[in-house]
Parts: sequence; structure tokens; C-alpha cells
Amino acid sequence: MGALEVQEGFTELYGAEPEGVWAAPGRVNLIGEHTDYNDGFVMPFALPHVTTAAVARRDDGVLRLHSADVPGGPVELRIDDLAPQSDRNWTAYPAGVVWALREAGHEVTGADVHLTSTVPTGAGLSSSAALEVVVALALNDLYGPDLKGWQLARLCQRAENVYVGAPTGIMDQTASACCASGHALFLDTRDLSQRQVPFDLAAEGLRLLVVDTRVQHAHSDGEYGRRRTGCEKGAALLGVDALRDIPYDGLDAALAELAGEEEVTRLVRHVVTENERAERVVSLLEAGDIRSIGPILTEGHASLRDDFRVSCPELDLVVDTALASGALGARMTGGGFGGSAIVLTESSGVPALTKAIEQSFTDAGHRTPRVFEAVPSAGARRSA
Ligand code: GLA
Repeated sequence: MGALEVQEGFTELYGAEPEGVWAAPGRVNLIGEHTDYNDGFVMPFALPHVTTAAVARRDDGVLRLHSADVPGGPVELRIDDLAPQSDRNWTAYPAGVVWALREAGHEVTGADVHLTSTVPTGAGLSSSAALEVVVALALNDLYGPDLKGWQLARLCQRAENVYVGAPTGIMDQTASACCASGHALFLDTRDLSQRQVPFDLAAEGLRLLVVDTRVQHAHSDGEYGRRRTGCEKGAALLGVDALRDIPYDGLDAALAELAGEEEVTRLVRHVVTENERAERVVSLLEAGDIRSIGPILTEGHASLRDDFRVSCPELDLVVDTALASGALGARMTGGGFGGSAIVLTESSGVPALTKAIEQSFTDAGHRTPRVFEAVPSAGARRSA
């Protein structure tokens, strides 16, 4: 749906013109998984799929939220009543952003919001971050606190951690706010310093497929929190602020110190090796060598499957089938326990790979996965 339709939808709903229309994308992560809450490196890029918001200010303390993708009329809230973890619905994400802005001392006196999204939900492609970031950007423009992309990302992360109550890292919000078309974003999650790294797949005759398994295994939230706590325990046992502080060439010594701590050992090994993989990938991309990142992506999957243990049969099936059918590399992307995988392939390999993956799902009795090509796209912006 384009900016114009969202604008018209707003007018029909609220009986007045919006002050503007904004868009924020979902993301996939190329490498650097479960490193963002360890102060490590990540490398996401934005999808062409976006959440779009038409927004107008109000001055009476009322927040009205409507999504074209959810049945029913607008949900009306009083901004003075917004309180962390008081809302279990989708509205907690945009309301959390309003709460976080006000908590940070920025004036927001109300808003009418109409949303629509093409970001698949529940697919590990950051539909929640897109929703948070689009609302944050709109209110930033309209109310004028003039925050930069990384500051909006921090604010959205706070909305998600404190208001919604999900203990996620900073990657998804930063990706949605800061990515650039044709590039992957190399982000140091310790200080949010970033580099836009050219990632022009088509120019190299390559494609990157996203395979949404369309499964989300139960307890994924609890398991995410458990991995996070395990990593914090590892850092404490090793006497560092975060696992980021364990250098790759100090890994063996660190693991020796953790003797007897089987689970923590596996978690630490994943995080330290994943940071090293992210650094290798950024070097290769900056040298213009996209093809050579394939095996590193696959190594990353093995580490997430065997050490971090956040994969699942459907994700493993995508990766194994893709590799057996000629892909250059493949891995799960995002938090895991379902969601999506990415596959790097020569352009000519796309039809055969897609067919092989779909067939493997049919043979295993899984739902047909959604397969699409991911073109590195623009980050959040005003679109009207
Ligand atoms: C989810 C979280 C991110 C990050 C990834 C794993 O997407 O929202 O912060 O931790 O999982 O890399």
C-alpha cells in the first residue's frame, strides 16, 4: 500500500488530513546473531517491506491508534495513563514509544495514528521494530525533538524492553532506523558506531533469498531470555562487562576458565566466534568479495544450531536443502525457534533452490514456506 492510500485511510477514519506519512522497514540480519545484548557486532540490512504510518498531532492528551491490518476501529488511550506492561496487544508498541518519548522529557500532547504494514509478522523480520520506529520517527518530526536515528532506536528499544516487556537487544530498531539502500549496516552495539557497507548483490550476479518457515515455536520468548541470562552469567564468571570483551584469540583460555559450566561454555563460544565471523564478513564485503561470505554464513548457522541452540528442524531443513542444492551459504536469521532463514545463491540458482526448499517442506509434512528475494533497501523515512 502506498503513502496515498494510507493518507486516504487516515482521512476516512479521522475525518481530517494527516500531517504526514512515514515508513520504516523490517530487516534481515546477515551475520552477528545473539551478539547485540553482548555489546557485539551485527550486520543487518533493511527489507523493502515497510510499516507505514499517517499521523497528526492532538493537543488534548489523547492517543488514537488504528491498524488497517487489525479488525475494528481506533483504540483510544490517554497518554497520562500509559504504564509499562499494562497492554498485551499490538497497541503496546506504538503506545510504548509515546511513553518512552515523554519519559525522556520530550513533549507529546497526543496523536491520531493510522498504520498499515507489508512486513510479515511472526517471521523474525522485525515487524515490531518497524512499528516502533515509524511512530518514533513521525512524532520526532512533528514534535521536533530532532533525535538522530540511533537515538530513536534507543528510545524504541526502551519502549520494547520496559513498556512491552520483551528483553530484546538494539539491532532491530537500529536496522529499521538507520539502514541505507544497497548497503548492509555494520553496527557496533556497544557504542552504536556504524558503517554503511556496500552490498550490491545483483551487480555480482547474486541473490539473497529469505525463507519464512511460517513456524514460531512455543516458549521462544522464555528461551531468548534464558540465553541472555546465560551470556550475562558467562561475562560475570569471566570478569568482563560483556562477552564482547573476550577476544577471539583469548577464547580457549576463557573456555578453560569455564570448565564444568557446560551451557555457559556453549553460549560463550557462540558469541565470541560470531563476533569474529561478523568481522570477517565486513572485511570481505569492504573488499568487494560477496561470494566468499557464503561459508561464513553457514558456519554461523552451525554455531547457532549446536552451541547456542536456537535453531529448529524447519530452519535446519532450509539450510541443509539449500546447501545440497548449490547455495553459496545459508543460515537462520533473527532470534530463532522458527521465523526465517537466508540463502545466498548465484542468480541462476534461484528457481531450482526455491523448488527444492518447497519440496523438502512438503516431504517433511511442514507448511509451505514463503520464499522471497531480499534487496537491501532504505531505512526509515518520511514518504509524504
Ligand atoms: C531478536 C532480537 C534482537 C537480536 C536477535 C538475535 O531479533 O530482537 O535484538 O538479539 O533476536 O540476534
